Amino acid sequence: MSDQLRELEKYYEHIDETVDYIRKTVREIPEFGIVLGSGLGKLACEINNPITISYDKIPNFPQTTIEGHSGKLIFGEIEGKKVLTLSGRFHYYEGHNMSKVVYPIRIFRKLGIKKLILSNASGGVNPNFKVGDIMLIRDHINMMMQNPLIGPNIDKHGPRFVDMHEPYDLEMLEKAEEIAREQNIIIHKGVYVALQGPTFETPAEYGMIRYIGGDAVGMSTVPEVIAAKHMDMRVLALSIITDLGGPDISSAVSHKEVLEAVDKAMPQVILIVKELIKLTDDYN
Ligand code: HPA
Repeated sequence: MSDQLRELEKYYEHIDETVDYIRKTVREIPEFGIVLGSGLGKLACEINNPITISYDKIPNFPQTTIEGHSGKLIFGEIEGKKVLTLSGRFHYYEGHNMSKVVYPIRIFRKLGIKKLILSNASGGVNPNFKVGDIMLIRDHINMMMQNPLIGPNIDKHGPRFVDMHEPYDLEMLEKAEEIAREQNIIIHKGVYVALQGPTFETPAEYGMIRYIGGDAVGMSTVPEVIAAKHMDMRVLALSIITDLGGPDISSAVSHKEVLEAVDKAMPQVILIVKELIKLTDDYN
């Protein structure tokens, strides 16, 4: 057996161990997997009858290192539907390899979850955006120069070459737009560009992101979407615009500012996510 195949076998074993452990607590199949980005932990307060498992208790689970990411898996109900929530995601810039970054998504799928809701904080490069706006991601550009599917294909998960013509589920997108319209929430739809980080972009880089067709930029989400599509999951992702960048905008960005902007947008995000979960039968 080659080293690569041996490693793959080990990865499968790790996934099985993790899933076995989580199943001791999570006995039903959650309908949704939710990933909470920077500062979005408050959404977890909306989970009824929560059961929390801290990452450090879960075998083979990566550990998070960032402020605003609490490091808990929370199982419970939103609008009567079972959800499993990752409060604190794993980023490439933390030094995790891509297998670790997407590990929770693979665990979600192995637990039987088919619908994924991802959230993140991002910089807006579309001149129509304001801080605190919400953008539904309709497409992305992977500029991380990395891909979680590099290496031997995990045949148990999906095909070698993954179709990405509809990375974000059109029905979920439509439903989210409809909800926002009904609730009078201004919502954008746009292209998310993922870079490695951890530096925020220079003015010239923000300019390039706009030039290549981006509306927002961040350091996450895309690897998770790729892994999810590999396993044939349906994905909805939303970005909170926490700062604005462009070739002629040279104001400083700080993590604190990012967290404050997320806080401001939180009530609307919560509304959209809750309704989307409640109305799941409309897009099944
Ligand atoms: N760039 C990249 N990532 C981010 C930004 C940004 O401007 N804001 C929040 N996350």
